[in-house]
Amino acid sequence: MAMKVCNTIRQTREFLRAIHEGGKILGLVPTMGALHEGHLSLIRRCRAECDLAAVSIFVNPTQFGPSEDLDSYPRTLDADSEHCRRLGVDLIFAPTDKEMYPSANLTWINLDKLTEHLCGAARPLHFRGVCTVLAKLFNIIRPDIAYFGQKDAQQLAVLRRMVADLNVPVEIRTCPTIREPDGLALSSRNQYLTADQRRQATCLHRALSWAREMIAAGQTDSAPLIQTMQEIIAASPDVRIDYISIVDNDLLQPLSRVDRPALIALAVFFGNVRLIDNIDITPHTLK
Ligand code: PAF
Repeated sequence: MAMKVCNTIRQTREFLRAIHEGGKILGLVPTMGALHEGHLSLIRRCRAECDLAAVSIFVNPTQFGPSEDLDSYPRTLDADSEHCRRLGVDLIFAPTDKEMYPSANLTWINLDKLTEHLCGAARPLHFRGVCTVLAKLFNIIRPDIAYFGQKDAQQLAVLRRMVADLNVPVEIRTCPTIREPDGLALSSRNQYLTADQRRQATCLHRALSWAREMIAAGQTDSAPLIQTMQEIIAASPDVRIDYISIVDNDLLQPLSRVDRPALIALAVFFGNVRLIDNIDITPHTLK
């Protein structure tokens, strides 16, 4: 089937009507474009596991704060479409802002608890925007399965909870973080790093891996773990740590001891570029 590109909700629904009626399994990879190998791994998995693979490409304005990088966020629709075509995607949904938000939105999805810490602390309206746009995308496309990367661990936890709490009929599947050979997690924002910042940014994965080793060796107090991770990262010039946190894997609340499944997550600025990364810790599987 030739890949279809739809810019409107009406076109998309018309295209998908027969697919829904035919009982085919429809997979969706929601993205903001600027596709890199991390996204491509989600698309490949979606393609392999579903009868039909859809990719949405929409830089969602409601998840950016007023002083964030909405205007400069990379928009590379031609290259993205080419990647999708090559991987056998059936549908790209690439709406305009006006199509998605014809008037100022008055209905929002807010999650308690899970959005209090980590990225939610510094970006108070971010997850409201993410959940609302995903609810809209799920209603427009009605996928059976949607694919997300472990790199956005808080987004994933929030979405899983939203889908459960609101009985959204979609299964969320997680794919591992894809990394450069030196450990840096792939991100659309990596392209903004200077050569020096790019070299320094390897400290994020180094700090997380160090903490994982310490926990495997029996060090479970969070405070000294966080302190040393801060030192590893702050050794690079030009960095500003937004947060380094150890939280439980369920409600993402800070843990003073790593005595249950946990997430170590961080956000760090290199100049103006904010990078996130995380590592999943399940104490009994570390030994
Ligand atoms: O992870 C992203 O790229 C975005 O937050 C998402 C899920 C596409 C919603 O805009």
